[in-house]
Amino acid sequence: MESLRNKMDQTPLQVPATLDDLIRQLHEIFSSDKINVEEVCALMESYKSNPADWSKFAKFDKHRYTRNLVDEGNGKFNLMILCWGEGHGSSIHDHSNSHCFLKLLQGQLKETQFNWPDVNHKNQELTKKWEKTFDENQCTYIHDSIGLHRVENVSHTESAVSLHLYIPPFNTCHSFDERTGHKNEVKMTFWSRFGERTPFETSVSKENN
Ligand SMILES: [Fe+2]
Repeated sequence: MESLRNKMDQTPLQVPATLDDLIRQLHEIFSSDKINVEEVCALMESYKSNPADWSKFAKFDKHRYTRNLVDEGNGKFNLMILCWGEGHGSSIHDHSNSHCFLKLLQGQLKETQFNWPDVNHKNQELTKKWEKTFDENQCTYIHDSIGLHRVENVSHTESAVSLHLYIPPFNTCHSFDERTGHKNEVKMTFWSRFGERTPFETSVSKENN
């Protein structure tokens, strides 16, 4: 079996054969408080997406993308699956000072990173840093120290599914108006939890990440 080296303690990490294996390994990694971004990205990328592992969590909505909770990481992290219909996209948002890893399980997603608004210049358009399209099994990372981002499924013919890891978990963030840089606090909710649809009254959300 292939193995990855854990740079922190030189313990070999096995390539996860299934999503359950990946979850087990994430629990092991985050039993310590250190976060090695490259190691986590390498581990996330090494899992070869198999819809048989995750289809029970992949619930789509016709109108907007959905957030579906997979694992609560003993309170240390949240792992969730986001389902993006054709043309669905997020707002420009921050991440409440959490680490955010995004791995493609199916299809492609475009990530556009932006700089934070300039506090000395109100009502200015946000400036783009770069944009990139990620393919199945690739992983990207963002943190507030890097900037803001927007994620979009720009395809008009294919849906997309992504696996998101947030450390520590958070349930509010800010969305930003691209033209003015103005921000609004938004509360995030789950479309489903552990494969079960969340009751409607608790799943209504103005915006999410
Ligand atoms: Fe995000």
